[in-house]
Amino acid sequence: MKFKKNILCIGAGYVGGPSMAMIAYKCPDCRVTVVDINPARIDAWNSAELPVYEPGLDEIIKKTRSKNLFFAKDIENQIKENDIIFVSVNTPTKTFGAGAGKAADLQFVEKTARQILEHSQSPKIVIEKSTLPVKTALAMERILASAKGKITFEVLSNPEFMAEGTAMADLEKPDRVLIGSRETQSGLKARAELVDIYARWVPAEKIITSNIWSSELSKLVANAFLAQRVSSINSISALCEKTDADISEVARAVGMDSRVGSKFLKAGIGFGGSCFKKDILNLVYLCNYYGLQEVADYWESVVKINEYQQDRFTANILGSMFNTLAGKKICILGFSFKADTGDTRESPAIYITRKLLAEHAQVVISDPKALKNAAIDLASDKGKISYIEDPYSAASGCHALAILTDWELYRKLDFRKIYKSMIKPTFIFDGRNIIDHKKCFDIGFNVYPIGKPALSRFEDQSSV
Ligand code: UDX
Ligand code: UDX
Repeated sequence: MKFKKNILCIGAGYVGGPSMAMIAYKCPDCRVTVVDINPARIDAWNSAELPVYEPGLDEIIKKTRSKNLFFAKDIENQIKENDIIFVSVNTPTKTFGAGAGKAADLQFVEKTARQILEHSQSPKIVIEKSTLPVKTALAMERILASAKGKITFEVLSNPEFMAEGTAMADLEKPDRVLIGSRETQSGLKARAELVDIYARWVPAEKIITSNIWSSELSKLVANAFLAQRVSSINSISALCEKTDADISEVARAVGMDSRVGSKFLKAGIGFGGSCFKKDILNLVYLCNYYGLQEVADYWESVVKINEYQQDRFTANILGSMFNTLAGKKICILGFSFKADTGDTRESPAIYITRKLLAEHAQVVISDPKALKNAAIDLASDKGKISYIEDPYSAASGCHALAILTDWELYRKLDFRKIYKSMIKPTFIFDGRNIIDHKKCFDIGFNVYPIGKPALSRFEDQSSV
């Protein structure tokens, strides 16, 4: 069958896989191919067990795979055969050299641009899908321009705003699709070609276009604003705990102002995930680079509050459990950075577990989807941690429960049954405020939510 458009995506990760599956699903007359330097990842995409857990993804893959969606290993050949190339490779925080710890490591993006240059035999539209520092497109253009007029490349920026756990719904009904381009004749033509693809299922008023730098920067700023809301509410949760105010009541009252809005006001143990911290640090680096110290400090404080919230949570566990955790068994319920994903990148659970181990606690970790990744994250602590998927077996014989991920199943647990199997006195630290605190207190637990008065049978020990 001859396809109308041939689309390639380089990078078959959490972003590349689901977003290309949605394009293939919505555009049956386009052929979409996804490649990756990691052949095992491609094998997984071609198998029954996908490398990414995402509600609804399985069904879309089943409907499209081998029809107009292909996962392939021959990167060079695919570059030759496709006209539109999305780049969705990872852009981790740099760990070395200038900007280490803050700047984005662009080596994979640059390598990919060189690969495209080397193997292209016809004009291409190259689309940045990865989150990138503003002005990265310039570097890409410069690399691609060295084709010296033989082949033309047009670079577009089309950042992805989907969130993990809701990726398929976000991709199907996005708040907006953003496409940035050069405002030249060829730039606008390439932009129109990409608009056409999204217009198959996204209403025209939700497809917004801009210059390429605004598009790159908007993605960083969108993530920074979202993370800032989480840090803002978490900072107030600390004040609530001192004043007997209740963070859920405060968030409700504040969020009902339509100028503020009710989303992203859930206090907890802080944000995780591959994007928020990385993107804010990247923004901080950019501000510093341009000599904007005050602006850099302002955004860096969002990350600092996030770390503070995790420290507060572990200090509270220690203080409430009579200032010693040595030899005590703590059951961690939830290890992924949020519900409905097995992803543990930058999960607050990693940091909290390490802190508990440093206090010589014994840790049991339970999670419905993230145990494999948890064992990789904590490989250096092998032998000190048990991994048990069933929450009832995991909690049995423990002194405390720490709820670290907002999985729906934890709301519905039979806490009476769990209480009976645990060592007394028994503690619950609800890092996500998802369970019925009063009910658990009445069962016999000492309950410590975030930003709400503790329901405890003991005097506060934390200041001892
Ligand atoms: C990544 C970035 O973290 C994010 O900032 C960006 O917006 C999109 O890409 P994600 O898809 O979650 O997000 O990353 P990951 O799951 O690590 O996928 C990246 C894939 O690219 C990996 O499978 C990796 O093997 C592949 N890759 C990396 C290449 O194919 N070529 C390379 O040169 C480097
Ligand atoms: C985020 C952005 O939402 C998305 O638009 C972008 O494309 C990628 O980064 P993601 O990291 O997948 O998506 O998840 P998100 O739902 O934003 O949650 C991030 C973290 O914030 C999670 O750890 C979550 O638990 C936490 N969070 C979120 C809170 O603690 N409270 C809230 O109210 C909301």
